[in-house]
Amino acid sequence: MLRHTRLQQVPGLGRLRLHLADDVLALWRATQVASGDPDAPLPYWAFAWAGGQAIARYLREHPERVAGRRVVDLASGSGLCAIVALRAGAAEATAIDIDPLAAAAVALNARDAGCRVTVLQRDVLDDAEPPDADVILAGDCWYEARFAERVMPWLRRARDHGLDVLVGDPGRRYLPTAELVKLASYDVRTTTELEDLDLKRGTVYVLAPGPAGRTDRPGKR
Ligand SMILES: C[S@@+](CC[C@H](N)C(=O)[O-])C[C@H]1O[C@@H](n2cnc3c(N)ncnc32)[C@H](O)[C@@H]1O
Repeated sequence: MLRHTRLQQVPGLGRLRLHLADDVLALWRATQVASGDPDAPLPYWAFAWAGGQAIARYLREHPERVAGRRVVDLASGSGLCAIVALRAGAAEATAIDIDPLAAAAVALNARDAGCRVTVLQRDVLDDAEPPDADVILAGDCWYEARFAERVMPWLRRARDHGLDVLVGDPGRRYLPTAELVKLASYDVRTTTELEDLDLKRGTVYVLAPGPAGRTDRPGKR
């Protein structure tokens, strides 16, 4: 992990540095060789994705969204959103990802950022109960159909249990925007190794209240 990454700043996020790869595709090949698995997933954890960067930028401008609250960074990759949430004053942060290498990367990045992130390496999307937290951050989860169709029902369940849900996304094709309320947009630096453009527009949304939480529903005045 250390051999293929370099501690580097993420533009727009001050002095925060993460272990990121300059050549993600070379790292991917190395991961496939090391694991003996030709289908090893892309090392998502070695790159700060546009959706996560947008959330991170938003939290720097609006620390009140997470200050003093318990935060979950779903599909954490590098742990960018969890770390920025802690720097914005979150009481605690948990990073959830299915990739064991992401879990290791979060621990490394948190250590270098001087903060403590709890890491959960598990697929939680079929859990009936949401995590014991106040805020969910979901950065860049809508790049693949199957993951996309599972993640929104889980976020809705969390929302219906009273958690705030913030979504960050650069306009991926599988993002359903119907229930999302736009909060802010940022131009974020990416790489044409992974994206069509090296600058993308990342948008942060809040998941709107469901029927049970709406104040305008009939009979609830
Ligand atoms: C595009 S990356 C986004 C990483 C980070 N949020 C960011 O914006 O930089 C997507 C992440 O989702 C993770 N992932 C995929 N399926 C998942 C699942 N069912 N539960 C949790 N994480 C998942 C991948 O391992 C990967 O780290």
